Amino acid sequence: MNAKTPQPPVQTDDEALFSTDLISPEIAAILPESYTIRPMRKSDYSRGFLDCLRVLTTVGDISEAAWNERYEWMNTQGKGGYYLLVIDDGARVVGTGALIVERKFIHNLGLVGHIEDIAVAKDQQGKKLGLKIIQALDFIAEKVGCYKSILDCSEANEGFYVKCGFKRAGLEMAHYYEQPKKSIL
Ligand SMILES: CC(C)(COP(=O)(O)OP(=O)(O)OC[C@H]1O[C@@H](n2cnc3c(N)ncnc32)[C@H](O)[C@@H]1OP(=O)(O)O)[C@@H](O)C(=O)NCCC(=O)NCCS
Repeated sequence: MNAKTPQPPVQTDDEALFSTDLISPEIAAILPESYTIRPMRKSDYSRGFLDCLRVLTTVGDISEAAWNERYEWMNTQGKGGYYLLVIDDGARVVGTGALIVERKFIHNLGLVGHIEDIAVAKDQQGKKLGLKIIQALDFIAEKVGCYKSILDCSEANEGFYVKCGFKRAGLEMAHYYEQPKKSIL
């Protein structure tokens, strides 16, 4: 490679939602070749992040401007609370998961991790990527000081989370609002 060969831009932590120090080296080391696990970046809008999430539920038609606004919020006011990570196969986002850290008064100002929005692209399921996402989120939760992580799942996915080391704890209840008003947040 001579000195004039264009180099890919160096990705720095500035462009990511959280520090790469929070990415488990063990999980990063056992991914298939060309795959990486990393913090979500603003540029993931054009790497299929939202399409990956669509295997999980309705996402909606989100413009890049709306995406940027939400990302900026997470990266400023929400800083330290939102750990969204992705698995990238070298061309696009093929898996994602989120850890939301709740700051409490109980348990001596304890922190509780909420594991949310786990999704693996349809054509990539069954390769243990989902398991690695959960293990990587567990690593972050422990490292930032959570005393536990909890999640809400359908019965259809219970077996998956049991394989990931989770167990039933209590009964989750939900109240869905029929017609959510336009967000004021
Ligand atoms: C659920 C999901 C994240 C699993 O990811 P995945 O990469 O396909 O799963 P893995 O390959 O990591 O599976 C790990 C283990 O869990 C098992 N498993 C996976 N999905 C399962 C399920 N729905 N029920 C029971 N076991 C399951 C696998 O067989 C594997 O077991 P093994 O270690 O004995 O071979 C993925 O199927 C997905 O994105 N589904 C659609 C979105 C969704 O439902 N997300 C969860 C929200 S609660």
